[in-house]
Amino acid sequence: MAHEVRGVIARSKQAPVELVTIVVPDPGPGEALVQVQACGVCHTDLHYREGGINDEFPFLLGHEAAGIVEAVGPGVTEVEPGDFVVLNWRAVCGQCRACRRGKPWYCFNTHNAVQPMTLEDGTPLSPALGIGAFAEKTLVAAGQCTKVDPSARPAAVGLLGCGVMAGIGAAINTGGVGRGDSVAVIGCGGVGDGAVAGAALAGAHTIIAVDTDPRKLELARKFGATHVVNARETDPVAAIQELTGGNGADVVVEAVGRPETWKQAFYARDLAGTLVLVGVPTPEMTIEMPLIDLFSRGGALKSSWYGDCLPSRDFPMLVELYKQGRLDLDAFVTEEIPLDGIEAAFEKMHGGDVLRSVVVF
Ligand SMILES: NC(=O)c1ccc[n+]([C@@H]2O[C@H](COP(=O)([O-])OP(=O)(O)OC[C@H]3O[C@@H](n4cnc5c(N)ncnc54)[C@H](O)[C@@H]3O)[C@@H](O)[C@H]2O)c1
Ligand SMILES: [Zn+2]
Ligand SMILES: [Zn+2]
Repeated sequence: MAHEVRGVIARSKQAPVELVTIVVPDPGPGEALVQVQACGVCHTDLHYREGGINDEFPFLLGHEAAGIVEAVGPGVTEVEPGDFVVLNWRAVCGQCRACRRGKPWYCFNTHNAVQPMTLEDGTPLSPALGIGAFAEKTLVAAGQCTKVDPSARPAAVGLLGCGVMAGIGAAINTGGVGRGDSVAVIGCGGVGDGAVAGAALAGAHTIIAVDTDPRKLELARKFGATHVVNARETDPVAAIQELTGGNGADVVVEAVGRPETWKQAFYARDLAGTLVLVGVPTPEMTIEMPLIDLFSRGGALKSSWYGDCLPSRDFPMLVELYKQGRLDLDAFVTEEIPLDGIEAAFEKMHGGDVLRSVVVF
């Protein structure tokens, strides 16, 4: 049996998103059908709809979601109907060269549903990040469902499914932030504030939030920023150096995804410091700089895919910290919106009015 539900698609580059009927098949082997309860609007959804990720239109958008497993296909053992889950885009395969070498957070062959969800005329949809959760129901690989405490608020914990996890993990997993470190975060949207919160959880001593929007800087303080820098008014590199005894930060997280902010992050590090790029650049962006600077400043230049997270390890742990009041996931939710409010949410994101708009079903 197939399920006809409402979903939000991007049909072509630059065209506004559309709320349409989509067809979701019953789960086959290894698949799970999930009734979506909440799904956050991430900047990556906008990248998809602008054609910045690839050209595989039409996309079924949405990928920061929590919901209830409605049905599972043959052979599924990790979840069962009724389970409350956060959806992830890293269902590790256990077989690829990364998994075999004991680094499953790099898994190069992650699982998604095999059967396509389609439009009513049969046109297959490309689900954003293999999820597609701006829909009343979605079909995923069972491994994309991570069971968490069912008493948690779906709109808040669903955000662990992408941006907030990417930010927290960029600081803790990729950047290796530890007690007493100095950290700077450039770009304080949902992802950057995740990095601020992660740095605070890890015991960083100085946490400098940098943004061009003063409203974002005020929010970053709520997540644990000890200092804020308005990059429109002050040179962020000089400001970060000044706030770290003239040296620069031990770890700088770039959460914008642009060459100029990456360069700022590069030069705002202390010698031998770590730069973590978690913002996603577009294909035409390039960088030019003296190679000697890369050598003489030393350290590590890293990228963070999904915060190098392992959903099965990290989601339940972070939900527990949330329940204990040590990680304020509610503060990421600026507004709850209906399924037809996504285009307006993109506008608000552009205008800097929100950290996260979350579709609640
Ligand atoms: N690596 C991953 O796995 C991963 C996962 C999710 C999202 N992302 C990416 O992370 C980036 C941020 O996502 P988001 O949802 O937080 O977006 P967002 O639009 O909510 O936040 C971006 C922030 O950067 C600020 N900004 C813009 N230009 C700036 C500048 N020159 N200096 C300082 N701050 C500036 C904006 O004011 C805004 O607060 C995006 O590129 C997104 O695609 C990456
Ligand atoms: Zn693998
Ligand atoms: Zn995302």
